[in-house]
Amino acid sequence: MPFPIERPRRLRATPALRSLVREQRLHPGQLVLPMFVKEGLDSPREVTSLPGVVQHSRASLVDAAHEAVEAGVGGLMLFGVPAERDARGSGADDPEGILNLGLRDLADAVGDECVVMADLCLDEFTDHGHCGVLVEDGPRAGTVDNDATLARYTSTALAQAAAGATVLGLSGMMDGQVGVVRAALDEAGRDDVVLLAYAAKYASAFYGPFREAVESTLVGDRRAYQQDPANRREALREVRLDVEEGADVVMVKPALPYLDVLSDVAQAVDVPVWAYQVSGELAMVEAAAARGWLDRERTILETLASVQRAGADAVLTYWAVEAARWLRRG
Ligand code: PBG
Repeated sequence: MPFPIERPRRLRATPALRSLVREQRLHPGQLVLPMFVKEGLDSPREVTSLPGVVQHSRASLVDAAHEAVEAGVGGLMLFGVPAERDARGSGADDPEGILNLGLRDLADAVGDECVVMADLCLDEFTDHGHCGVLVEDGPRAGTVDNDATLARYTSTALAQAAAGATVLGLSGMMDGQVGVVRAALDEAGRDDVVLLAYAAKYASAFYGPFREAVESTLVGDRRAYQQDPANRREALREVRLDVEEGADVVMVKPALPYLDVLSDVAQAVDVPVWAYQVSGELAMVEAAAARGWLDRERTILETLASVQRAGADAVLTYWAVEAARWLRRG
């Protein structure tokens, strides 16, 4: 019964009708705020390429965490910016390393009210900026040593769990990382710690501003371990392996430029699927909004709706606190 019988516009006529037929609604509790804590800071410092995002001092981190909880945000994902870096990323598994100190602060302050998560990677802690340790000699010298890196990740996982993280975000894209970290945690009696696998993580130009936020020392790129942006099917392989290895949650990253991947993954698995709206996605919207080219609030909410529509059960976003307030206001 086509037109004139069928008239889809009928259901769009009033705000009340539109509200009633809305297919999905984002809840503040489905938003996770990524945060940065920097060693040695006395007060928060702005990140130029990420308007509204700061590197926190330990004190301002806790204040901002309370604010996020107040807004109803469901989780916090913490990244650490150490004062010193070395070849093996020693700061990552040092109980006194800045990320582990920050995790302890967050767990103490808001651990009962939201989910405290740790980025589990070496890139902020290595002097070369790669996500793992490098092969020293031979034909593969200078490349990231997958299996040697796994040992660094297991040690870091134990330190982060001890510091109070409930969820560990495995973002390094090393083969086998989920399985070895799961085994090491279980062996240590920490079968309670949740593993969030950055299962489909692409070698993306959209990470640009993040590199400023963590003062990345990387020269070159991560194409030898993160996925090629041209590949769709490969994401399902990465996700399958991570689920088989014990991932409790899988994530797709970036979000908006990879909605097809997100949709595929959401249909393929029976674990929660999250998406990471990365730094460049924020930068793009903020830059256009600052010029008056986009309506900032509407655009942000539309990006979040798109990511949810494609299949994300939760979204990591630097706009989490602001968006949570808007969502509550309705
Ligand atoms: C690496 C990591 C990166 C991001 C999160 N974790 C950078 C990278 O892979 O180069 C990027 C997040 C963002 O751009 O917001 N541990």
